[in-house]
Amino acid sequence: MRGMGDWDLTPRAASTSEVVLVELMVAEDANIMGTIHGGTVMKLVDTAAGLAAIRHCGGVAVTASIDEMSFHAPVYVGNLLHVRASINDVGRTSMEVGVRVEAENIVTGRRVHTSSAYVVMVAIDADGAARPVPPIVPETDEQRRRQREARIRRASRLEHLRTIESSRAASIRPGTGSAADGEAG
Ligand SMILES: CC(C)(COP(=O)(O)OP(=O)(O)OC[C@H]1O[C@@H](n2cnc3c(N)ncnc32)[C@H](O)[C@@H]1OP(=O)(O)O)[C@@H](O)C(=O)NCCC(=O)NCCS
Repeated sequence: MRGMGDWDLTPRAASTSEVVLVELMVAEDANIMGTIHGGTVMKLVDTAAGLAAIRHCGGVAVTASIDEMSFHAPVYVGNLLHVRASINDVGRTSMEVGVRVEAENIVTGRRVHTSSAYVVMVAIDADGAARPVPPIVPETDEQRRRQREARIRRASRLEHLRTIESSRAASIRPGTGSAADGEAG
């Protein structure tokens, strides 16, 4: 197993880890309405994000959270789905991956932006513990904008977590040591 100092933490350009998955949507991917199941799209989003994270950190990474998964338009059987994932920003051990999904009508070539999501992936060592990741180097105005916005989301995630924790701490019943509303999540 590698020690904390053994990882290659050379800064990496955001463009070097970008991933595009392209997959034809078939009948097995459809829901009872005949359009493509949201879970099919989510799986591809998670896969593309994971591959981008692995490229960036040069090792195994796991999904910690998926934020703002949106579905703007339906995807149809026969569409070619393009799932583009790139690292927006990194923390110490985590990476925020932005994922954009477009559905292409292969007859007309028309592409529709159907989904977006922000996936937090965490690099892990052989024991499954979080380990450091290389810094990211944004090179374009677009990549710098994504990094700025990723930092806003990270601050907001941490703030959200702190608020929930203090709310739970405040609801602990004196003498029982358990939260009044249980462990719901
Ligand atoms: C993700 C995981 C490795 C984090 O482990 P942990 O012991 O909580 O690690 P830490 O508290 O040290 O946090 C590590 C990093 O993860 C981030 N993180 C942890 N939980 C998070 C969450 N729910 N959302 C966003 N980021 C999160 C922390 O902010 C930290 O980032 P930083 O180092 O860049 O500041 C661990 O929770 C895990 O293994 N989860 C299961 C992952 C998995 O199986 N995914 C697939 C689901 S099917």
